[in-house]
Amino acid sequence: MAVPSVQLPSGAKMPVLGLGTWKSKPGEVTEAVKAAIDAGYRHIDCAFVYGNENEVGAGLKAKFDEGVIKREDIFITSKIWNTFHHPDDVEGAVRKSLTGLGVDYLDLYLIHWPMAYKRGPEMFPKDADGKFIREEIPFTDTWKALEACVEDGLLKNIGLSNFNSKQIQAVIDIAKVKPSVLQVECHPYLNQKQLLQFAQEKGLVFTAYSPLGSPDRPWAKPEDPSIMEDPKLKPIADKYGKSVAQVLIRWGVQRDTIVIPKSVTPARIRQNLDVFDFALTDEEMVVIDGFNIPYRACHLDWVNFMPDWPFHEPF
Ligand SMILES: NC(=O)c1ccc[n+]([C@@H]2O[C@H](COP(=O)([O-])OP(=O)(O)OC[C@H]3O[C@@H](n4cnc5c(N)ncnc54)[C@H](OP(=O)(O)O)[C@@H]3O)[C@@H](O)[C@H]2O)c1
Repeated sequence: MAVPSVQLPSGAKMPVLGLGTWKSKPGEVTEAVKAAIDAGYRHIDCAFVYGNENEVGAGLKAKFDEGVIKREDIFITSKIWNTFHHPDDVEGAVRKSLTGLGVDYLDLYLIHWPMAYKRGPEMFPKDADGKFIREEIPFTDTWKALEACVEDGLLKNIGLSNFNSKQIQAVIDIAKVKPSVLQVECHPYLNQKQLLQFAQEKGLVFTAYSPLGSPDRPWAKPEDPSIMEDPKLKPIADKYGKSVAQVLIRWGVQRDTIVIPKSVTPARIRQNLDVFDFALTDEEMVVIDGFNIPYRACHLDWVNFMPDWPFHEPF
């Protein structure tokens, strides 16, 4: 069954379910991409900083070579890392992702975070005390350089990730090419009700990352809330003969958000796509909405001294 899509202002169709690729161990993600494409995924979420775009590219190449898909059949997202925000570095960053992924355009490219880090080859630049080093670059300058890449045909659509409502508005205010997508963390423990409404009012498609609460994030602590283990979800999953993961993904799809669960396990990859043959009731949607804590798994608290760290604002 084909995964439903939403149409972006450019006319591009973005499937509402994609494969996340963050945190794969070496060698894992090529097979995951192949399994996902065979299962019917036509949307892959990547980023330069994940350090595995060449492995994702190997999976894509295998499926192009086998004739399973053509380039135009698959929606590929990547993201510019915080060290490449300087306008002179933007096209080079895009080209690094294109080379890694083995494609000549990206369907969507996002500013990964609003904060700019020190320019250079070090992805996580820190001073002698271990403190991250920032660079004074307005993200609106980065945006203008991305618009030039759209004009050159390297990027089909551009958008924002981890921006708050004020930062999104600042980009909209200067944009010739409007942001088409906002990608932020979203699951029932962080339902992002206000930001979702804001994005929808501004015409941005909303992508929910870490839809399962990112249990494999490197900084997870045993005492952190875990949505996958919430006992209130199990009876709902059992009612439909589905897993808790499938209920979480379905909840995201039913809120008109795009959902990008990560898995490197073929059976889970297939399971996560199998969410289009049941629907949560309005009552269940409201109950799950009520789980909001709010709890953020990807907080990047270690850079909260930076003025552009997005979580200073309520939404
Ligand atoms: N823009 C951003 O700043 C940003 C930040 C975070 C994430 N993202 C994107 O969003 C994607 C998803 O978020 P995420 O990776 O943080 O976490 P997630 O998708 O919420 O959770 C991934 C974890 O859940 C497990 N899992 C997947 N399907 C499962 C199932 N059906 N049953 C049980 N466990 C299951 C995975 O295990 P296995 O892999 O071992 O199967 C993995 O440990 C990322 O990979 C990335 O592409 C973007």
